[in-house]
Amino acid sequence: MNKRQKVVIANWKMNPTSLADAQALFRATKRISTKLKKTRVIVCPPFLYLGILAQTHKKIGKVLMGAQNTHYLKQGSYTGEVSPEMLARMKIRHVIVGHSERRAMGETDQSISRKVAATLDEGIIPIVCIGEQSRDDSGEYLLFLERQITNTLERVSSARIGRVFLAYEPVWAIGKTSAQSIDAHSLHETILFIKKVLIKVYGRTAGGGVPILYGGSVESTNASVFLREADIDGFLVGHASLDLDQFKTILSAVDSI
Ligand code: PGA
Repeated sequence: MNKRQKVVIANWKMNPTSLADAQALFRATKRISTKLKKTRVIVCPPFLYLGILAQTHKKIGKVLMGAQNTHYLKQGSYTGEVSPEMLARMKIRHVIVGHSERRAMGETDQSISRKVAATLDEGIIPIVCIGEQSRDDSGEYLLFLERQITNTLERVSSARIGRVFLAYEPVWAIGKTSAQSIDAHSLHETILFIKKVLIKVYGRTAGGGVPILYGGSVESTNASVFLREADIDGFLVGHASLDLDQFKTILSAVDSI
């Protein structure tokens, strides 16, 4: 990724409830993204809509399509799953891997690590989610984060780390309001820690070049301060990506940095 390019992922999760609404939201998202100069927007709808939207919006513009999850095998008897090869054949180039809501359904660092490797094998960029459940005064959560990073990236060599996005999403800050989210200072400290871990594993050039996004109650009111003070490369936005006014403000904030 061009170092100056920012990234905003719209994680629609299990929304909206009709294809017509998904089409309308996607069209509107494209519309509010047309004037962006240095921001890549990646919309991740539910699988059911992803295939249809990817087919009907083939032209590569500023808004790309991404998946919210993938399996790590190419095919087989895995009811309800979608493989990285299927995504690649549908020209889906990004996938969220290891979101905390999927970890809560049983995903582990080990299965996530296999998913990361499998997506890279297909030329897809994994957006690897990490984040602590809660914080403590003695800094245990930092060790937890370090373990999550090294475990989920254990199959990624220095040669391939440049094709990975990392999304820091503290679980306690997800799905709240901006007032209950992390503060910019704590976010900055954590981002510096994550960079240190990546540099320790991959060296200054490769490790230091990994784009780090923040996710967890990013709204129109806190996006700017995070960008100014926390040294991040963009956002993974949940609920505010369904609200066009909010999402537009977030995109403008990102593009103006
Ligand atoms: P949120 O979700 O913006 O609604 O907190 C972010 C995420 O879970 O990716």
